Amino acid sequence: MLSKSIEKALNNQITLEAYASFYYLSMASWCDTQGYVGTSKFLYSHADEEKMHMLKIFHFINDSGSHALTPSIKEVPHQFKSLKYLFQDVLKHEQLVSKSINQLVGLCLQEKDYSTYNFLQWYVSEQHEEEKLIKTILDKIKLIGETQPGMYMIDKEIEGMIGTGVDTGISNPA
Ligand code: FEO
Repeated sequence: MLSKSIEKALNNQITLEAYASFYYLSMASWCDTQGYVGTSKFLYSHADEEKMHMLKIFHFINDSGSHALTPSIKEVPHQFKSLKYLFQDVLKHEQLVSKSINQLVGLCLQEKDYSTYNFLQWYVSEQHEEEKLIKTILDKIKLIGETQPGMYMIDKEIEGMIGTGVDTGISNPA
């Protein structure tokens, strides 16, 4: 059984992962409407991965004899200024998720909950890979430049990054 504070913090993490899933789904939809087919596929896939991150915690809480709660999600943005701004938003959200995971890890150490600490190590690596991946995309956008042919190239590049890094829900199931 988890302590009440760890149960609460894990449920809070569920909300963050669920928000990320809906956020990236909205981004995928916007990309679809703008003709960014490759980026749209990347973000649909990323939204699925975030759902998997959420479910992994969900099962962990219940398997530990505590109670996972279905989160309420506030409305996500539906419009984005450009691909560059969109991925800057992704990076900001991932940095927030990383901070929250780190706080959770700290709480586990404080409470000597080594089982949850161990479970969270996957998320620690995951966040490192995710931030790296999004930074790479932002670097490519900067390098290629936001001209029309440049955006076409960037879209293709991003499509080629689907499933790269640790963060592939499909290859790292719960
Ligand atoms: Fe599951 Fe991208 O945080």
